[in-house]
Amino acid sequence: MDLPTLARGLGARSGLGPAPISVGFELTHRCNLNCSYCDRHSPSPGEMSRDQILRALSELHSLGMRHVSLDGGEPLTHRHVDEIAAFLVQRQVRVYMNTNGILVPRKLATVRLLSKVKISLDGPAACHDAVRGQGAWRRAVVGALAARDAGVPVELTCVVGRHNVDHVDELLAFADHARFPVVFQPARASLFAGVERPGAAFQLEATEVRRVFRRLEAAKLRGCAAVGNRWSSLRHFRDYPRDVELPCAAGHINATLDPEGNLLHCGQIARPGRAPNVVALGARAAFEALARSACTQCWCARVVEENYAWGGRVHRMLPPLGVAEPPAPRPRRLKVVA
Ligand SMILES: C[S@@+](CC[C@H](N)C(=O)[O-])C[C@H]1O[C@@H](n2cnc3c(N)ncnc32)[C@H](O)[C@@H]1O
Ligand code: SF4
Ligand code: SF4
Repeated sequence: MDLPTLARGLGARSGLGPAPISVGFELTHRCNLNCSYCDRHSPSPGEMSRDQILRALSELHSLGMRHVSLDGGEPLTHRHVDEIAAFLVQRQVRVYMNTNGILVPRKLATVRLLSKVKISLDGPAACHDAVRGQGAWRRAVVGALAARDAGVPVELTCVVGRHNVDHVDELLAFADHARFPVVFQPARASLFAGVERPGAAFQLEATEVRRVFRRLEAAKLRGCAAVGNRWSSLRHFRDYPRDVELPCAAGHINATLDPEGNLLHCGQIARPGRAPNVVALGARAAFEALARSACTQCWCARVVEENYAWGGRVHRMLPPLGVAEPPAPRPRRLKVVA
């Protein structure tokens, strides 16, 4: 992070006024997969046009935006993704992307512009494909290898749920061998907190969430480089899903832009009926109008980690002195749960 951006962030932290330094941009809700636990894979009716997107990004940039995480749906299916990534990089914005990896080999010129690509991988092939469709695992791994061969840092994201909870050790062994870090987070009923949707069938009992995250914490403590979570998210998930108040940076140094131009302080919570819209109001007025309310169910690992860093909770960010490691599960035959 450069010094002016750091100063801006510290200014926001000390109450001098918020700035959208880091923006999650859901480019489209269209997707080339239809994962059983996901409720964000149909295009929204009024997605922004190319011109509206570029104008909004330009305005956000002038308000201090320096990091953009392209998300979806599947961001690589968007017909203007190449131009949008190039537009941001030309303005010295660091661009990250969450993707299922399938289109990475075909979109390498754009992927090369990214500061990091985060590819979803839910375990060994059988677990991943049970949720994401036949052949999805192989295509995700081909995409991850292609990005790495192109010189782009790659991170894997694993949603831990009923489909893979007994197979996490196998994923760690694969990732260790392939030298990819994996960031783990719990499956939710919906991507939007407080909403009941298809993911409910995949959610684990609280005791199972805690058991698997304690095992991951112990593996990291032993030096397993494949556990990509920082200590703060592993520690946070020790308590999950019990309500935990944590420092919340949402709306203070970050914001989420949906495909229709609605600006939200946080992308992880239920969408309000009406949100300030960057097309209607302009980015400045939309950002000023954000709700900025924290919640107690923070579940996206990287967001959790940013929040503890933002709050300066250093004791949560350091390794624990020890972890009582629960026994390894006996891998069961895979049951497809939806
Ligand atoms: C909505 S996807 C968008 C990016 C891309 N299409 C992908 O699959 O990575 C972003 C992340 O949300 C995760 N996700 C989807 N539904 C979820 C749920 N019900 N609970 C937790 N994570 C979920 C996906 O596994 C993925 O890692
Ligand atoms: S998790 Fe990603 S790949 Fe799967 S349906 Fe949702 S948006 Fe598409
Ligand atoms: S605490 Fe709640 S509102 Fe804040 S970033 Fe986490 S999920 Fe979003």
